[in-house]
Amino acid sequence: MNHFELIGGEMHAEQVPLTSVARAVGTPVYVYSTATLQRHARVYKAAVALAGPRTHVAFAVKANPNLAVLRVLANEGFGADVVSGGEMARAMAAGIAARDIVFSGVGKTRAELAQGLDAGIGQFNLELEEEGVVLAQMAAARGLRAPAVLRVNPDVDAGTHDKISTGKAENKFGLPIDQAPAIFDRLAPLEGINLRGIAVHIGSQLSSLAPLEAAYTRLGKLVADLRAAGHLITHVDLGGGLGVPYRAGETIPNPEELGAMVARVTRDWDVELQFEPGRAIVANAGMLVTEVLWVKPGVTNPWVIVDAAMNDLPRVALYDAHHEFSAVRPSGKTFTANVAGPVCESSDVFAKNREIDLIEAGDLAVLHSAGAYCATMASMYNSRALVPEVLVSGDRFEIVARRVSAEAIMGEEQVPDWLE
Ligand code: LLP
Repeated sequence: MNHFELIGGEMHAEQVPLTSVARAVGTPVYVYSTATLQRHARVYKAAVALAGPRTHVAFAVKANPNLAVLRVLANEGFGADVVSGGEMARAMAAGIAARDIVFSGVGKTRAELAQGLDAGIGQFNLELEEEGVVLAQMAAARGLRAPAVLRVNPDVDAGTHDKISTGKAENKFGLPIDQAPAIFDRLAPLEGINLRGIAVHIGSQLSSLAPLEAAYTRLGKLVADLRAAGHLITHVDLGGGLGVPYRAGETIPNPEELGAMVARVTRDWDVELQFEPGRAIVANAGMLVTEVLWVKPGVTNPWVIVDAAMNDLPRVALYDAHHEFSAVRPSGKTFTANVAGPVCESSDVFAKNREIDLIEAGDLAVLHSAGAYCATMASMYNSRALVPEVLVSGDRFEIVARRVSAEAIMGEEQVPDWLE
């Protein structure tokens, strides 16, 4: 459920008409709904809390790192799953306590490991044995014991787009699950490390719980094996991955179903269960507002050329993703058209051959489900401005990320003196 709806024939975010945002801020612009973020956060947290007495939910910052969005989630009691020093700094700047931060990622630098140790973050999710050795040395040199878990690769096909699958043996993520016990034996005794559990994340936008259940079942066996070998296992990080409905009428397992499955599979694990949801919390809490520039005749269908492009919302070009497109003031009439941005690439197309609201130049439109992995993946390709973000709450709205102009970035560049 989200708080974007037509009120008096016009799309609103909560009580704010999107035309007001467009008039004040210009287009393209991302609009997020606080009430939707809060609702999704509460539903997810309550659902997974049913899985066990000790649960920790860390928002996957990569999905939407905007400081205001992170603050909303911090206020809901969320920790953060971060994958870089930059994300760590953001999470802390937004008010998330260091102890509630989990640091994932396949290529952490020594500087980032040091940053995490010095900040006192809650957990390092290790991707390889050498990383554990280096972390232990760095922690010992500081008189610390770094809390850590091993991320394993359970070799499960998540059944999602290839480019967002992470749990198959051929993917770069995690350690082969059968090697985990030997690595545990070697790392656990090191002075600077408190190796206390395991982690998994098999992919994103999962439309079925079956692959997650298969992965978690393998983890359960590993927990038992590690304990049998004498290790103290107190934490298991179950990752993120729950999908969201991108198409009208699409059904996707909900957080309650996830919580019930986790409760069943982990019943006798006796650990703190950790979760790292990203998309499920933020995707449907955001929309991208755009203006129609031209309606250009096409060979089969007209091209609706909008002022948002693949640099602002790259998911369609990257993963063949589907985002619903609708008019901010729909007339009730529809036509079959293509929707594209101005970038000079044939992949800069948001919809092909789709029945959409009848729309003309100068009208405003929205791309739906744009709260996750959209603004955060934006670039300035074609020297376009970096898209701004707005947060709505009730009848208020505020710019939470200003538009960054192409001129501002040009100011960071320099032509060397020795070029004439
Ligand atoms: N934990 C780890 C270790 C991850 O790598 C990810 C996402 C998450 C949690 C959060 O997963 P979620 O709950 O959001 O599915 N840019 C792509 C998605 C990339 C996901 C990367 N990892 C997209 O736009 O679909």
